[in-house]
Order: sequence, then C-alpha cells, then structure tokens
Amino acid sequence: MTTYITTPIYYVNAQPHLGHAYTTIVADTYSRFKRLCGERVRFQTGTDEHGDKIVKAAENENVPPRQYVDRISAQFRDTWPLLQVEADHFIRTTDAEHVAVVRAILQKVYDSGDIYFDEYSGLYCRGCERYLTEKELVDGNCPDHQTPPQEIAEQNYFFRMSRYQVPLIEHIRNNPDFISPERYRNEVLAFLSEPLTDLCISRPKSRLTWGIELPFDDKFVTYVWFDALINYLTGIGYPDGQDFQEFWSVAEHLIAKDILKPHAIYWPTMLMAMGLPLYQKLHVHGYWNVDDTKMSKSIGNVIRPKELVEAYGVDTLRYFTLREMSFGLDSSFSYEAIVARHNADLANDLGNLFSRATTMVWKYRAGRIPTPSGASEEDRPLREAAQAMLREYRQTMAEFRFHLGLQAIWELVGLANKYIVGNEPWALAKDVEKTERLDTVLYNLLECLRLLTLTLRPIIPGAAAKMAAGLGFDADDMLVASLDKGGAWGLLAPGGELTAISALFPRIEGKTDESGEKIKEERSQSKKQKDPVMAEVDLVDFHYFQKLDLRVAEIIAVEPIKNSKKLLQITVLAPEERTIVAGIAEHYRPEELIGSQVVIVANLKPAKLMGINSHGMILAAKFLVDGKEKLVLSRVQERVAPGCKVA
Ligand code: MSP
Repeated sequence: MTTYITTPIYYVNAQPHLGHAYTTIVADTYSRFKRLCGERVRFQTGTDEHGDKIVKAAENENVPPRQYVDRISAQFRDTWPLLQVEADHFIRTTDAEHVAVVRAILQKVYDSGDIYFDEYSGLYCRGCERYLTEKELVDGNCPDHQTPPQEIAEQNYFFRMSRYQVPLIEHIRNNPDFISPERYRNEVLAFLSEPLTDLCISRPKSRLTWGIELPFDDKFVTYVWFDALINYLTGIGYPDGQDFQEFWSVAEHLIAKDILKPHAIYWPTMLMAMGLPLYQKLHVHGYWNVDDTKMSKSIGNVIRPKELVEAYGVDTLRYFTLREMSFGLDSSFSYEAIVARHNADLANDLGNLFSRATTMVWKYRAGRIPTPSGASEEDRPLREAAQAMLREYRQTMAEFRFHLGLQAIWELVGLANKYIVGNEPWALAKDVEKTERLDTVLYNLLECLRLLTLTLRPIIPGAAAKMAAGLGFDADDMLVASLDKGGAWGLLAPGGELTAISALFPRIEGKTDESGEKIKEERSQSKKQKDPVMAEVDLVDFHYFQKLDLRVAEIIAVEPIKNSKKLLQITVLAPEERTIVAGIAEHYRPEELIGSQVVIVANLKPAKLMGINSHGMILAAKFLVDGKEKLVLSRVQERVAPGCKVA
C-alpha cells in the first residue's frame, strides 16, 4: 500500500504562521501514521512563488523578486524541522523542473484545443489574483479582501473549464470520498449547480512579468493557479519519473477551506484536460482564529509557530492543534487553551501515568519488566480497552478525525490511571503473598505504556521517542514502531530493563499577561535526578510554595448543609473568624470536629458552594480503603494560637 499526501504550497508573501503550521503538522502526522501502518509514503510541501502579490511584497521590501522569494521560501523550509515535520520533498514553483513541466502541460492542453485566446473584461481582485463575478461581491467589495475589485479589459488565454463541468459533477457524485468532510463536498456541488465559466489562465507581460512564460505566446505569463496546482505532479517526477507511476494514483491533497475552489474545480478539470486520472481525495479543514478573531497582520495577532515551540515545546504544539481542532470546523487559538491542554492532558494525565508506573517498576522491581502470571479475568477490562482504543485509533486517524483518535488514546490513559488507584501497587508491595499480583499489575501498566507510545508516535514523535527509550526500546523496534507487529496485547518481554528519563511534560506554571499575547513566566524545568524513583517528581520553585498562606485554624462551629451529602459549613478562627465549606461530611460528624485545630490554605480565592461563600480550604490526607475514598484531616499535634503560620 502507498500514500501520497500534499500540503498547499504556501505563498511567500507572508511568513509561516499557525495556519500553515497546522496543515503541515496534519500532513506530517498522517504520513507518520501511514508509515506506522506499514505503507510506503510520499509527503510533499513547498512554496508558491509567482504572481502579482509576490511582486508587491518584494516591492514593499525593496528587493528584486528572486532575492525575496529565496529568503521567504527558506523561512518555510527551515520552520518545518522545528515542528518535527519531515517532508520527502520541498518544491518551489521557481524550480527549473517545475517551470519546464508547466510549459509542457500548457502546450499539450493548447494543442488539444482546450486553451483559446479571447478578449475579456471583468472585475479583478489583486488579492485573490482572479476575476470575481458580480454575485460574489459583498457591498461592492471582494468578500475575502474587503477591497473593491478593479475593472479590467484585456486580451488573454482561457482554459475551457466549462467543457468539464458535467464530468466533474458526475465524478464527485460517484465518489463520495473525493471531497471531505461532506460539508465541503456539498459546497462544491452547490457551486457546480450554476454554469461554470472558462478560466483565464494568462496575464499580459505589460501587467506582470514575474511568472512562467506561455510556451505558445511570449507576451504572456501563466496565471499563478494554473502554475501552482501542477506542483503536485512535478514534485513526483511527472511525466516519466518512477515516483509518478507509483504515487499519482493515490494522491491525497490537504488544504483549508480558503482554497477549496481551485482544488475542487480548477484542478480536476485541468487533470481531465491533460488526460490524467484525478487525485483520490481532497481533505479540507477549517480556519484557526485567535481568541475568536480572524488572525491577521493588521490586527497584529498573527501566531508564529517558532515562538510556540520555544515557549511550550514542539510536542505540546502538535498535540494541542490536533486535539483542539475538529477537522473541517474552525477553531480558536488562545495561550490559555494551549497551557490548559499541556497541564491537564500531557503533564497530569499522560506524564503522571508514565511517571507513576515506571517509578513503581524502579522502586519495587529495580527497573526490570516483571513476568505477569497469566491473563487474569480481573484485568480483562483493561486489555479490552486497549484493543478498543487501537481499533478506534486506526479508523479515526485514517479518516482525518484526529481529535477523536486522541480522545480514544486518552480514555486508555484515564483507565490506566484508575487501574493504579484501584490496584494499589504500594499496598501489594507490602504483602509477600501478593508478589505475583504486583508483577501482573506492573506488567499490565507497562504494556499500556507501550501501546500508548506506539499510537502517539505520529502525533508527538519527540515525546513518544522518549517514552520508548524509558521503556527500554530502540526507537525503531517494531513493538513500538508498527501497528501490525506491535498492536497486540502482551508482547512486552519480561526481564527487559527500563531506562531512567526526565519528566515527559513538566507543568507550565504562571499565567499569560493581560493582553494574552506573551507568556510571562517560565516553564518549571525539573532537572534530571540521579535517583530513578525521584526522576519523575514534578518539582516546583520555592517561590510558588511561598505564595501559599498555610495556617492553623480552630474549628468553632459546624453545620450540615441542606441538600448536600458531602459538604459541611465550618466556622473557624484563623485568627479572624471565617467560613469554610468543606467536603468532609461523609468522613466526620460535626460534633467530632468542634475544637479541632486543622491546617488551612488561607489565601484561596473565595468560592461559592451551595450558595455559601467559602474562604479557604482545609487540608486532609486522601486515600482509598477497599476502593472507597477516605479522608483524614491534618491536625497539629499540640495546641497553638489560632492563625499561627504553617511553614
Ligand atoms: N499558494 C496558495 C496555495 C497553492 S496550492 C497549489 C495559497 N497559499 S497560502 O499561503 O495562502 O496558504 C493557504 C493555506 O495555508 C490554507 O489552505 C491552509 O492550509 C493554510 N492556512 C492559512 N491560514 C490559515 C488559518 N488561519 N487557519 C488554518 N489554515 C490556514 O493559498
């Protein structure tokens, strides 16, 4: 099986931003996923360098177009490795091979009679680099650029696109997967329900010289879209290259909704005119906004992927974008959202699971993978959940529903965390008769970690490589690098040795500043410890601890709260009188509490619980007994003055 996946080739009139990064991360993830499935993959990205707006951008910077496109194209090329994007080919429309192929194709279509010369007058938008119809205008302006189009009358060459309208409609109808998600397929079919006009594919040199000269008329250059779309062919060696033979029949294009029309209408009709089979699939995603506002240079809210990588790390950026956006719909970026995803999903759920499980293997089994004793019935739900996750993962990833694939993975993370709490390995470790059970529990946890490593590879390749190393694998070991070879349960070899690694995802402490644009405080970087048991502990800076106001409080009154089984209203002296609502009603009777001196967090923001304002929180030890949560209040051993600081 083979896969050919492409991103759009990006215009070099702007530097790479979050939108470009998203499409390219998706293409990279998909190509890694397909490789994980054992397929041969070709993944291509690149830059689109001809046309009006590139000339404009170069003029603005006072440099010749050639010099300008070289510089910005290099910025795109250099950005992708920072995002751990590994494309097989980076194409530029100024590459000599591409120019030659575009000219050959133009000649071929001209010779077959599908290109003709005509006079045309119409409304031209410089931003879109195309003629708009009256119908498309909003208040007389281009809907995308909010500027009035110019009236232009000139002689040009036209591609007989209208001739292919009916075959295109038939193709879309007969191939339900040709354009997805379905909303975009419907949009294209709706557009095609109106008569299709021919496409103007040239620009007179009097107006534009920065382009590919028409092979049959040197007074014209090629319209940028007729040039750009052909990159998908030239990049794989059309017409005689080996890769063209192998990959064109499986081509899948990935774009955002902004360039649906050129990809769903111009491109297939061009391919029909060339006598080539159409691409297999067009995957269309929505737009990233920023704090629910359109991302734009003039608003000044353009998000640069490089800055995100520097602030949060590449794995967090990749995970966040794939988890947060439902493919096909728009999504909103915010600094708060990326920090929240990092801390909750990566640091807390996944990072803690990895650290808790491996730390126990170090502590109780000296870092060696234990031997499980048979497939026990009580562990069946965990094993089945892992297999269900793999099935869901395979299907959703293949369908570009990445957020669902990630949800499936995180369900297993949650279950494995619960499995630790439910099995209490620390209690098993104290009981010599439970040695075998402890071995099995630890083994099952490591097996979950292996399957998580395997499935996370396409999404967060850096973290997954570290997880693989922590479990004692080489990165290319098939048990963590192939869905077919490593997808079954129980393949982890007992006796293997873990390797100590530093924390996978140190929590990001601190906040974003008021304008929400800059991360103020640094990440807490926990340092690698010598002792593997301590290696994964999340360390906090002393000043964070210092911010907590811990005090001794004396309980002077306690009342149950109507309609709540869990909460008690507690009046304390600390030293001033204050009310705290605490969830301890199932553990203490009111009369047991009166007169007790407990430790509270005195500087928590007040919170309203069951209509009562609570000013602080009482500290308690929390653990499980027979699967039920138990709380024991923290009390000071000798009586002290209420309000006394706890340091
Ligand atoms: N050069 C053309 C594409 C030619 S392909 C044969 C072009 N370039 S572009 O630089 O404008 O890139 C558009 C693409 O960038 C979108 O289709 C999408 O992949 C990505 N994005 C740009 N802004 C985006 C968002 N705000 N959100 C998500 N992706 C967007 O069009």
